[in-house]
Amino acid sequence: MELQVVVVVFLSVFSYSASYDYQEVLRKSLLFYEAQRSGKLPADQKVKWRADSALNDKGRNGEDLTGGYYDAGDFVKFGFPMAFTGTMLSWSVLDHEAAYTKAGALDDGRKAIKWVTDYLLKCHVGDNKLYGQVGLGQLDHDSWTRPEDMTMERPAFMINASAPGTDLAAETAAAMAAASLVFKTVNSAYSTQLLQHARQLFDFANNYRGKYSDSIPDANNFYPSSNYPDELAWGAAWLYRATGEKKYMTVVDEIYPTIQYWDGFSWDDKKSGLDLLLATLTKESKYLDKLKSFCDYAFNTQKKTPKGLIFYGESASLRSVTNTVFICLEAADRGVSADTYRKESKKQIDYMLGDTGFSYVVGIGNKYPTHAHHRSSSCPDHPAQCGWSFFNSELPNFHMVEGAIVGGPGSNDNYTDTRKDAPHNEVACDFNAALQSCIAILVQLGY
Ligand SMILES: *[C@@H]1O[C@H](CO)[C@@H](O)[C@H](O)[C@H]1NC(C)=O
Ligand SMILES: *[C@@H]1O[C@H](CO)[C@@H](O)[C@H](O)[C@H]1NC(C)=O
Repeated sequence: MELQVVVVVFLSVFSYSASYDYQEVLRKSLLFYEAQRSGKLPADQKVKWRADSALNDKGRNGEDLTGGYYDAGDFVKFGFPMAFTGTMLSWSVLDHEAAYTKAGALDDGRKAIKWVTDYLLKCHVGDNKLYGQVGLGQLDHDSWTRPEDMTMERPAFMINASAPGTDLAAETAAAMAAASLVFKTVNSAYSTQLLQHARQLFDFANNYRGKYSDSIPDANNFYPSSNYPDELAWGAAWLYRATGEKKYMTVVDEIYPTIQYWDGFSWDDKKSGLDLLLATLTKESKYLDKLKSFCDYAFNTQKKTPKGLIFYGESASLRSVTNTVFICLEAADRGVSADTYRKESKKQIDYMLGDTGFSYVVGIGNKYPTHAHHRSSSCPDHPAQCGWSFFNSELPNFHMVEGAIVGGPGSNDNYTDTRKDAPHNEVACDFNAALQSCIAILVQLGY
């Protein structure tokens, strides 16, 4: 009996500093998506400092394009990273529903997905017509206001048969196909509608090839696509998962060998996500081998900061790490170096949540960013007027954009909590999609 007590104390001392409430992080990450909502807000909105905004977002022919998420600290609706966010959130809820249930976050998880897919459905205005952006990057970035008070012009831009965008159309198809699986048992009419649009968008992507950022030049300044074969194969793989139809796997087999990238995973690069999906769908070991070489390199060879964070570059350093850790935690779930990858992955995530004495996720722990580069939360409530003086002041943001992960530290674990440093202190929908997906796996593992 006495011995048992000693053991319990011993364990709790050692798990104290390295243990975080992952379920809380999961719930708060979903609050971040509420904070990013554009359009008319629902009655059950929990983030109360936000209100209806951008109710005039329209297509060139007056189509209703309200809704969706503001991309990051700004208010442009960029379709490419938004669709990727939709795919990631859907994948997470689809494969880790138990984690969402455990955290009491399943309902909000589904709502976060539907907020994207409702908007993407609006953007798909014809078989070969998809709006891919609302708002102009520079014009939007020229003012520092609340989204509720925006007055700048917000034009909409599309891809179509004469101005194609294989990457954008295929990623949007992937998001809808993945979401159709999430809603299959809870809202079958919606699921059917999503799948139908996913099929059409995939055909559009496949029949009219090109880079979306050549067709939407403004997007080229912010989210330029490196190429589209990865999204084409990724979209096909998601449609195969949603339909089981061989014709989609035929496209994957045709396109896969033409993807000439390094392994990696991001809003622009689907290569390792595709390997992961194909490992599951085909059970072929060659895909697991690719995941293993990617993760071994990331954990063993990739540069690290002095305190152990895998480091890919100064701009949004944590985003690249969460994308990698997601792939490796999933690889671990498929039996690839499970113990090592889980241990190393948890270390990376725990670095972000406070192991250096600072949490890079707003509202998690005791010390976290209070000056995130995020316009809507930095501004005071109505009727006060926001403006550049708020951007420039040393005052903390007026509201807490709870659950948002900021870009992250520099190569020496160096970081300054200032709105003026967007590369290190901005927040964005795709950053949280990868973080949330990692966290859901940790919750499911019982950490
Ligand atoms: C097709 O998209 C391009 C690029 O957005 C646009 O300039 C053109 O007007 C569109 N064509 C049609 C028929 O809508
Ligand atoms: C961190 O330090 C490196 C090297 O001195 C520098 O290049 C980088 O800009 C710094 N980053 C931050 C966030 O201060």
